[in-house]
Amino acid sequence: MIHFRQPFLQNKMPNPIFERLFSAAWLTGVRSLSCDWALTTHRFLGISLLMTIATIAQSQDSEETYTSQSYAEITRLGEAIIENTREHPLSRDYIGNQLNCTSCHLENGRHPMAASFIGIATAYPAWSPREKRVITLQDRVLNCFMRSQNGTRPPVGSKLAIAITAYITSLSEGQPIKVNRDKPLGPNHMPTLEPPKDAPSIRRGRTLYAEHCASCHAADGLGGNEGPPVWGPQSYNDGAGLSRVSKLASYLKVAMPLDDPHLSDQEAFDLAAFVNSHPRPKFNLKKMLPTQEKMGEYNGDR
Ligand code: HEC
Ligand code: HEC
Repeated sequence: MIHFRQPFLQNKMPNPIFERLFSAAWLTGVRSLSCDWALTTHRFLGISLLMTIATIAQSQDSEETYTSQSYAEITRLGEAIIENTREHPLSRDYIGNQLNCTSCHLENGRHPMAASFIGIATAYPAWSPREKRVITLQDRVLNCFMRSQNGTRPPVGSKLAIAITAYITSLSEGQPIKVNRDKPLGPNHMPTLEPPKDAPSIRRGRTLYAEHCASCHAADGLGGNEGPPVWGPQSYNDGAGLSRVSKLASYLKVAMPLDDPHLSDQEAFDLAAFVNSHPRPKFNLKKMLPTQEKMGEYNGDR
């Protein structure tokens, strides 16, 4: 187990009162060196007094600003990473496609239905059938980097992991804890669509895609200015939740077309079958897990 430095301490802003008093004391001291000795003694007493006031001022001030400011700062950082995951300096090295967390978790996870982050901190630690053990919210966040983001798992306890988890947790304020004994999903997870009457049809899906989706995600599925890729080398890999037809159908039902989801269950399944019939990156746990020294703890079998 590796211990990482807590980001809160590194981020601490200089205390303005302390700085002002310290420079006053310092200037007095510097000038005193060029003066006569009697004055110097006097000045040093002055310095000690100022330093004492400064120390008291700092300890009182930091008690307040430390907790309030740095909590807000770290959750803002978490949201910024969710919004711009593939370019943010803290996350870009762990991303292997053109997606951000918010590409699927719409509105930075604040959308009430499209893979919502609202309330999910109440469900963790939770049992995960995939890893066959109980995992934390942080594990759940980091595992997304290997699948939906087709990248590598950032270290447990890293600044990015704490920031994202803190932001997500802030969206659960005031909600009651739900003990989650069967699956790692929060109280607002997407309802799973029942398989429709007719088996999902790639052929029908192709027509629906041209009609409802290609304007934003491009006819070749590789994305463009209006929407991210939905298949191909820059998309989610075949270990991601959305690579399963039923999960993608459940997602499309509540999320797409963007701002106007209106698909019938049958259409959602047909589209999901069509989208997932295209090639996408392969999930490979061995490649996506970092070396033991860089990992912290991976809550699963290697
Ligand atoms: C390709 C789409 C996609 C991307 C990109 C993606 N996710 Fe997800 N994620 C999902 C889906 C789908 C679920 C399952 C949601 C459900 O069933 O309600 C999920 C589930 C989760 C959960 C568990 C939700 C719960 O209800 O307990 C967390 C936490 C999470 N993702 C975090 C992230 C983070 C952080 C990122 C960015 C690093 C990310 N995801 C990127 C699609 C994605
Ligand atoms: C008006 C443009 C628009 C239309 C139409 C649209 N989408 Fe999207 N879609 C987006 C945008 C934009 C995102 C990313 C959301 C964000 O970044 O806020 C997205 C995200 C997605 C995602 C998750 C991220 C990814 O790229 O894998 C999937 C899957 C998806 N759309 C599939 C579809 C399908 C299927 C249709 C047709 C039913 C469709 N979309 C229609 C704009 C659109």
